[in-house]
Amino acid sequence: MCGIIGIISREPVAGRLIDALKRLEYRGYDSAGVATLENGRLTRRRAEGKLSNLAKLVETQPLEGTIGIGHTRWATHGVPNVTNAHPHATKRLAVVHNGIIENYRELRAELEADGARFETQTDTETVAHLVTRELDRGASPKDAVEASLKRLEGAFSLAFVFDGDEELLIGARRGSPLAVGEGEGEMFLGSDGIALSPFTDSIRYLEEGDFAVLEHGRITIYDEHGAEVTRPIKRSGGKSFYVDKGNYRHFMQKEIYEQPEVLSHTLSSFVDMTTGATRLPKGQAIDFSKVRRIALSACGTGFYAALVGRYYFERYARIPCDLDVASEFRYRESPLSDVDLALFVSQSGETADTLASLRYAKAEGLKTAAIVNVVESTIAREADLVFPTLAGPEIGVASTKAFTCQLMALAALAIRAGVDRGVISGDEETEFTRILAEAPRLANEAIRLEGAIEALARKMATRRHALFLGRGFSYPLALEGALKLKEISYIHAEGYAAGELKHGPIALIDETMPVVVVAPHDRSFEKTASNVQEVAARGGEIILFTDVKGASSGIVDGAEIIAVPEMPEILTPIVYAVPLQLLAYHTAIQMGTDVDQPRNLAKSVTVE
Ligand code: AGP
Repeated sequence: MCGIIGIISREPVAGRLIDALKRLEYRGYDSAGVATLENGRLTRRRAEGKLSNLAKLVETQPLEGTIGIGHTRWATHGVPNVTNAHPHATKRLAVVHNGIIENYRELRAELEADGARFETQTDTETVAHLVTRELDRGASPKDAVEASLKRLEGAFSLAFVFDGDEELLIGARRGSPLAVGEGEGEMFLGSDGIALSPFTDSIRYLEEGDFAVLEHGRITIYDEHGAEVTRPIKRSGGKSFYVDKGNYRHFMQKEIYEQPEVLSHTLSSFVDMTTGATRLPKGQAIDFSKVRRIALSACGTGFYAALVGRYYFERYARIPCDLDVASEFRYRESPLSDVDLALFVSQSGETADTLASLRYAKAEGLKTAAIVNVVESTIAREADLVFPTLAGPEIGVASTKAFTCQLMALAALAIRAGVDRGVISGDEETEFTRILAEAPRLANEAIRLEGAIEALARKMATRRHALFLGRGFSYPLALEGALKLKEISYIHAEGYAAGELKHGPIALIDETMPVVVVAPHDRSFEKTASNVQEVAARGGEIILFTDVKGASSGIVDGAEIIAVPEMPEILTPIVYAVPLQLLAYHTAIQMGTDVDQPRNLAKSVTVE
């Protein structure tokens, strides 16, 4: 989604605004812009497309000024062009916005009736005119913003600069994250810690309804009632928070390769590696013996992780689970009387649908828990329990290391739950955690299959459609593998339960339809083997991810087989994710797409 940065300093800010926007590129965008006060006068530079276009513009038409705001836009209202690029401005102010103003049409009609003249199709320009009207009526900038926020409906984070006032930046948040940072004689506003971390490690996250007034040497935060409040300082880890690709070609490749390391980090927060006993992350407590049913909810890849989680909790802890995509959960209005835990899975912790589901669950009186990769995120702050994945910042839009770390967290929690409920003995617990500790090594062995997978990707890149099949623990992997391929290579791909093949999808099979089958030699291998033969009998092209035992089963002649090391069933979703990620990654490279920032996608979907 959109990225926001604001700086009030005694030094020129244009270059640092653009540098900060570069750190926000991972959120996905289609245009960008900055505004500063040059001798007190509002001046803007905006460009369509990549940030490099804006950087070139500012190079050829330099921007002076020691106070300014910047924005990367992911279009919600209005096509991605320069006119609709932020900052939006009137003669009095400039504003940047992340989110959606849901009542912008009626506000616009009211403002136009009062004489406001709009230049764009965006909801954001309505905010500019709303605050300007208050200023024209004599309000101070702070009062003008405060009064205007009360008129807005929807989700937003906003940053304002005011013509003629080089001493003031204002930021506000409702539904979209915003942080403030304090530096040496300069203050910062940003969408997240990654944007601010090179400037300062003293970061405070605004809460729902907060707005902040940034002046030289002082930040004042007000809550939605206008009362002055304080928010805790979170040390961001400074420059280490800022990530770069290192010697990898893309963030996605780097993050695939980081999986062995971050899997062990994540496991160590759920298992005492000296005793082999499971544990909960610091400060979190839940007794699963008192949990009759779990309601799982998430979006996208997070949803597929939650689907694996359902298999884990039901298989190893014998806890029945409901599972919904977050955008459906609160509308299903399912009876929740025996649900003792609502568990949400989100890498960013800012996904609007998942956040809305969390709030729905809380309103229904449920205990809530969240598996998140960003511990300062809104979902993490609002959930009763937080189970962090320690994947580190995930920059590539296509989730990889966060997904496998989510699976690791879910596996450990399911074992913990089985122990609490007396269905897993102490010896079985230590055996399970010993197995989970094998994941980093096995993921590393799977990464070493990259060369063979790259060859398969060259063929996959010549196809326009693909089918992914899996059964049992591998069914969610078929769905995830299809999502990975479609979201970064733009090749249409569908994931199916292998057993569903004969109920329709088999009609798609011919020599132009590659079928990717995820089939470790587990309890459902034989059944999936018959599906593979059904595909082969119709000339389908088969890519089979299996293990040595599966590969030597003679399952079918002519299949392209990628043999993953053998492993206990609980590990297969985690380790088989790696070759699926590599297949999608290398196919996308063959297709020449923007692997880290695929078209139309955002890293965090903070609008419903
Ligand atoms: C996954 O590769 C996609 N980028 C997308 O489906 C993502 O998983 C989904 O938007 C949920 O995001 P979250 O985990 O940050 O909530």
